[in-house]
Amino acid sequence: MKRIKKAVIPAAGLGVRFLPATKAQPKEMLPIVDKPAIQYIVEEVIDSGIDEILIITGRNKHSIEDHFDKSLELEVRLKETGKTPLLEMVQSISRLAHVCFVRQKEPLGLGHAVQCARRFVGNEPFAVLLGDDIVVNDKQPCLKQMIEMYNEVQSTVIAVMEVPEKDVAKYGILDSTIERPGLFRVRDLVEKPAPEKAPSRLAIMGRYIIEPRIFSILAEIGPGAGGEIQLTDALKVLCAEQPVFGMTFEGKRYDVGDKLGYLQATVEFALKRPDLREGFQRYLKSINEGLS
Ligand code: UTP
Repeated sequence: MKRIKKAVIPAAGLGVRFLPATKAQPKEMLPIVDKPAIQYIVEEVIDSGIDEILIITGRNKHSIEDHFDKSLELEVRLKETGKTPLLEMVQSISRLAHVCFVRQKEPLGLGHAVQCARRFVGNEPFAVLLGDDIVVNDKQPCLKQMIEMYNEVQSTVIAVMEVPEKDVAKYGILDSTIERPGLFRVRDLVEKPAPEKAPSRLAIMGRYIIEPRIFSILAEIGPGAGGEIQLTDALKVLCAEQPVFGMTFEGKRYDVGDKLGYLQATVEFALKRPDLREGFQRYLKSINEGLS
């Protein structure tokens, strides 16, 4: 039985949708309330039972490495000033897991970023979580749900979500047959189809468990849409060779690389925080009354 032991988090994209904030800092470090987006993702990986993590970084991404490293100066200062809870919190981040980094020298696409993980992964199935896609579920992390499905089907699993017809053109869409409620066998994938041409409304989200065969496919395919090496193109080839499944998941997903998605995550996460909820709710109510 094959097990998932490693996770790859591509975080080397340019973040054009979030300019100018992303001109000199990674979008993956933008805070949702007070925690950088990528930390939520690393925590999901750990809560799913994986502690070998590779983050794909690039130019302007040093702060991601610093965030998961020790911060000696800060730790000394917090110790001296008796701020023990903050000290423990800061120290716990660098102890979260065994996080490694590799640089994608040029942002040549998500497929190319995944290809940079080939050495780290070796010849075993692995998880991929996009650095700007947060999924919240209080009962079981999205990746854990996917690992359980992988353990059953022992083949590539892609997280999918049903999206409104008007939104299909923003995603990779599944052409599939249903195996059982929530599980689909992929026949083909269509990147960003026009609504009238979409084979379904099942859209690929930022979570995958992929068989290592993907690496040799990625090495062979050329650039696709936007001149980038697309992971979806490689998955299209993979699903013609071996079973690839789409699965729906329990949880709410936020695309925090998109301004609206980022704002939604910020407001909803703040409303769940015991230390902020009351004051923030009062504030939202007051501006809502002011508007109406
Ligand atoms: P996106 O398409 O959302 O990232 O890729 P982007 O290119 O940074 O975003 P925009 O469209 O310009 O705003 C999904 C994930 O894949 C990573 C991104 O960092 C993001 O986490 N990625 C993308 C790479 O690591 N390398 C790439 O070449 C492209």
